[in-house]
Amino acid sequence: MFAIQNGREFKLSIAEILAIFPTIKIITVSKSVTIFDGVSIDEILEKSPNLGWSIKIMEIREILDKNSKIPEIILNYFEWKTGKIDYGINTFPEKPELKKILIDTKKILQANSISSRFVNKDFRNLSSVQITHEKLIKKETDLNFIFDYENLYFATSIFVQDIEWYGKRDFDKERSMQTGMLPPKLAQIMLNLAWWEVIYDPFVWLGTVLIEAILNWSKKVFWSDLSSEMVKVTSKNLEDLKENFKYKIIEQNSKYIQEIDFLNEVESIVTEWYLWEIMTQKNISSDRIDTQKKKLRDLYIWFFSGLQKLQFKWNIVISFPFWEMNKKYFYFEEVYEIINKYCEIQKLLPEKLEFGNQDKAKERINSVDEYYNFIEVTKAWSLLYKRDNQLVGREIFKLQIK
Ligand SMILES: C[S@@+](CC[C@H](N)C(=O)[O-])C[C@H]1O[C@@H](n2cnc3c(N)ncnc32)[C@H](O)[C@@H]1O
Repeated sequence: MFAIQNGREFKLSIAEILAIFPTIKIITVSKSVTIFDGVSIDEILEKSPNLGWSIKIMEIREILDKNSKIPEIILNYFEWKTGKIDYGINTFPEKPELKKILIDTKKILQANSISSRFVNKDFRNLSSVQITHEKLIKKETDLNFIFDYENLYFATSIFVQDIEWYGKRDFDKERSMQTGMLPPKLAQIMLNLAWWEVIYDPFVWLGTVLIEAILNWSKKVFWSDLSSEMVKVTSKNLEDLKENFKYKIIEQNSKYIQEIDFLNEVESIVTEWYLWEIMTQKNISSDRIDTQKKKLRDLYIWFFSGLQKLQFKWNIVISFPFWEMNKKYFYFEEVYEIINKYCEIQKLLPEKLEFGNQDKAKERINSVDEYYNFIEVTKAWSLLYKRDNQLVGREIFKLQIK
């Protein structure tokens, strides 16, 4: 049994692990953690570096009563270890009691003559960077205590995302326009949802999607963009990867996607759509959003009708913009009409995803880190991604042309 620490939008984490491990059974979900079964540790470890939205992967060692004493569990676990032990303790949800747990654990270990040091800073859960620097995965001493409404799961971390490497991927890229960068992690999730290997990005910009495709598994990528500069920048960014792959590039307006002659070789289109203008807190307004939507609508209709004429049969994973104004979300509803006309929307989460004890659902509504008995999807079957400080979010769809 395993647990993942979910990314900020926990539904994206679930959709991603279900895409990568389709046979798993989900046991419990909270905002911060998903517990599941039905996959081998070898398979998890092989695929974990490709998961964009799993911050940390943990192996469940014991399922205990919710009221079990954490310091005693740790003492039992450490009794077979030798030498000085560096360790970290994390609770999910992160509890204010963590400070007391850390201090009590230190005392009980000292009393039992176990030489040890906890590496938590400010009595908080550990960050990925701390876990990596302290080499706690190898030492098997990043200790996790996951509280469910009934149980306490004791788990040790077996994988943690390499945050520094993600950052480097982002900053090494040549960039002439910095605004609204597609985060590499999100590109990775979109690729996982698309699943196939030969990827085409028709709005390639800096090539974020394709860089992730190549770093993960693709051996063949295609790209086009209206701007000759972006076609060149992407070529340079991909060349810098020094990986072995085949590619085709053209300068092309995606409005005329019908004219592209390599589509028969493509297995998935994965792309972030052109967002047009990046709005700021100062200039965002309903009129501006409407003008933007009108301009984009025409391009979108041409794009999908072109793919329909070509009878493109493969997955399309695509993100459309949505906007936040005065704490309210404004969705690109006009796009729903277009995609409903030309595409079948693929469900990113199963229609009925139920787990845990259904009778207990009501009791849990007000808990700190809400536990779910079922997952609701958006009406449009999309998933959302948005950073708190940004006004434009991304609504992700998986589509197939009708
Ligand atoms: C928001 S970026 C896409 C982000 C990109 N996928 C990434 O990974 O960073 C938009 C890109 O779309 C291109 N573009 C805008 N209109 C286009 C059109 N009609 N056809 C093709 N590309 C277009 C722009 O030149 C720009 O490079």
